[in-house]
Amino acid sequence: MAAGAAAGAWVLVLSLWGAAVGGRNITARIGKPLVLNCRGAPKKPPQQLEWKLNTGRTEAWKVLSPQGGSWDSVARVLPNGSLLLPAVGIQDEGTFQCRATSRNGKETRSAYQVRVYQIPGKPEIVDPASELMAGVPSKVGTCVSEGGYPAGTLNWHSDGKPLIPDGNGVSVQEETRRHPETGLFTLQSELTVTPAWGGAPHPTFSCSFSPGLPRHRALHTAPIQLRVWEPVPPEVQVMVQPEGGKVVLGGTMTLTCETPTQSSLQIHWIKDGTPLHLPPSPVLLLHEVQREDQGTYSCIATHPSHGPQESPAVHVIVEAEEGPIAGSVEGQELGTVALVLGILGGLGIAALLIGAIKWRRQRRGREERKAPENQEEEEECAELNQPEEPEAAESSAARP
Ligand SMILES: *[C@@H]1O[C@H](CO)[C@@H](O)[C@H](O)[C@H]1NC(C)=O
Ligand SMILES: *[C@@H]1O[C@H](CO)[C@@H](O)[C@H](O)[C@H]1NC(C)=O
Repeated sequence: MAAGAAAGAWVLVLSLWGAAVGGRNITARIGKPLVLNCRGAPKKPPQQLEWKLNTGRTEAWKVLSPQGGSWDSVARVLPNGSLLLPAVGIQDEGTFQCRATSRNGKETRSAYQVRVYQIPGKPEIVDPASELMAGVPSKVGTCVSEGGYPAGTLNWHSDGKPLIPDGNGVSVQEETRRHPETGLFTLQSELTVTPAWGGAPHPTFSCSFSPGLPRHRALHTAPIQLRVWEPVPPEVQVMVQPEGGKVVLGGTMTLTCETPTQSSLQIHWIKDGTPLHLPPSPVLLLHEVQREDQGTYSCIATHPSHGPQESPAVHVIVEAEEGPIAGSVEGQELGTVALVLGILGGLGIAALLIGAIKWRRQRRGREERKAPENQEEEEECAELNQPEEPEAAESSAARP
């Protein structure tokens, strides 16, 4: 009984000492052997030494002596006093302490904090995208790291620079799973980016695994290169019916806002620079057009990813029913042309008449000399010919 109480007190003292000392940090790879040296111990038996450990396998402190015992498969004290763990596992993480007394009676203590690690497989980007759309949140891919311990972290890089998730242009969805038997971690990180307009056209993305232990190297995936599409902003324009934008007073005019992508667009209308308070619609109907309806019209198409786009303005002209001023201007011009043509025609006829009269007089002179008896017939012919002459004159005048 007294011995048990003494041992309990000894354990308490040791645990306090262990907590206070802390000791050297040792990292050991899972599955590999680990040797911890007991400082101050004689190289060969007989030795006065004791190993104590508090790990995932022990319920409290476990004491190991050079004589060995049932823990041979997990840990055993070597002839030179060192402690050997033939194959460390996650459960061997914990505190190891040795207390040795040299031949001349000097006591030395050693303490270790053992942590284990496993290097995961090279991280990979699965389901990588091939193209991204500027201004549109798009999934780049999922980075996967399998079989690591401790969990560590996954980080994304673009064109060599770290991508910090800001929830705005860059977002990351992470998942950590642990293998039920091995206790090793599988990390997943899905990256979604919204490429900026006018950004790099061929950005590269890579992912790296950072171990959760100091002085351990990060592992990098092979980079993937993506193409960023910049969709041409849709051309927005207003079509008017009737064409030309002229409508008579009291008539009907239809304005249609034309966009390449009709879906998911909100169309608003603007008249003379002021928004019209109408429900959004791609068609604006003007019934019984009034003078006040005259003006410039444009439409604004609001696209969820491109923002609003305004069409060029079209002019709507309201005309009185009798005929527009523009029409009378045209009439006047036509009248002038007709007048000029008429004068030219008249001059042509006059010239021809003069010519015909001269020709007839010359001919009559010759006929008189030749056959005076046929005079009446000749005059008839001349008279019949006369009405044909203005026709010829007209056709020549019409040709410019
Ligand atoms: C051991 O690691 C702990 C954290 O895990 C740290 O606070 C301590 O300073 C380390 N000790 C040595 C000796 O490096
Ligand atoms: C004790 O022996 C082991 C295995 O033979 C060796 O790795 C270790 O370094 C030795 N320890 C000392 C303090 O020499």
